Amino acid sequence: MEPRSPQPRSISSGRGLCSAVALLVLGGSLAACGLADVPDWSTIQPASDLSRSIQDVYKTVWFWTAGIFVVVELLLVYAIIRYRRRPGDSGVPDQVHGFTALEIAWTLVPAAILFFIAIPTVRTIFEVQQKPPADRIEIAVIGHQWWWEFEYPDLGIVTANELHLPVGRTANLALASADVIHSFWVPRLGGKRDLNPGSENKLWFTPDSVGVFIGQCAELCGTSHANMRLKVFVETADSFDAWVEQQRRPAVQDSVGLQAFLSSGCAACHAIAGTPAQAKIGPDLTKFGSRSTIASGLLANEPDQLAAWLRDPESIKPGVRMPNLNLSEERIASLVAYLRSLR
Ligand code: CUA
Repeated sequence: MEPRSPQPRSISSGRGLCSAVALLVLGGSLAACGLADVPDWSTIQPASDLSRSIQDVYKTVWFWTAGIFVVVELLLVYAIIRYRRRPGDSGVPDQVHGFTALEIAWTLVPAAILFFIAIPTVRTIFEVQQKPPADRIEIAVIGHQWWWEFEYPDLGIVTANELHLPVGRTANLALASADVIHSFWVPRLGGKRDLNPGSENKLWFTPDSVGVFIGQCAELCGTSHANMRLKVFVETADSFDAWVEQQRRPAVQDSVGLQAFLSSGCAACHAIAGTPAQAKIGPDLTKFGSRSTIASGLLANEPDQLAAWLRDPESIKPGVRMPNLNLSEERIASLVAYLRSLR
């Protein structure tokens, strides 16, 4: 009789410890990234029909895999205990070759499980690829390095980085890109969908809860990919209508501020409706003052943060296309006042 070697046990408990440490480190780094304490990043708190459909599939798969996990672990524990080496055992146990019934079973059972997972998955794929309902709001989403352009063709509104939607009404998004591949992702409203240069992609969903939902470009698209954020404001029909009306009302133009804007070179890239500034390279600034954030969600639309952005955009968003115009502090102050007045 050989004395039992303690080694296998120490290896396996060492592995268990490693896994536990890895999980802790992963959890810790997620918390450090700030993701863990931002409930809006949750993919399991659906706020639209699309995200609910996806979650239903997720739940189905989760319960199947949880069941499989429990059965496999129980069999494993049973085998470990039942067939452990006992005093008096010698050498290698009897080897089994060929067990037709068992082989058929372990082929058929996984096939059946895959079949039952495939049914809801395929059904959901067809469901979310259907044509959107007629009473919908059309929105063109154009990805740029590194910001989002939102256009409401039927309403005559162009805005950037902040999307407003009425609750309970389908939003039909036509996704395109001005440069490289981006991916539209607002976790609580639905799955990711790519914005490809040269072809249009579609995504539609009906938000069912009022709230502010954050999103992020989900396809590596260059230096500031991680800084390509967006916000979706899902509002009641009344407050959405009020927003539409406010967006369509021409902003009162302060002539001194407009002059500062035009003479600083901003108009080479940006448009402000009702002024000579009509360029389409950077975000449309017509209603800049009505937005809660600037620089694709990186900063709050506050005077000091806007001033910092105008002073040195590159220091805030690496690789940004907006150049440092070496503006004087006086010029920055008048641009801040002018831009924030555009409501
Ligand atoms: Cu756009 Cu990543």
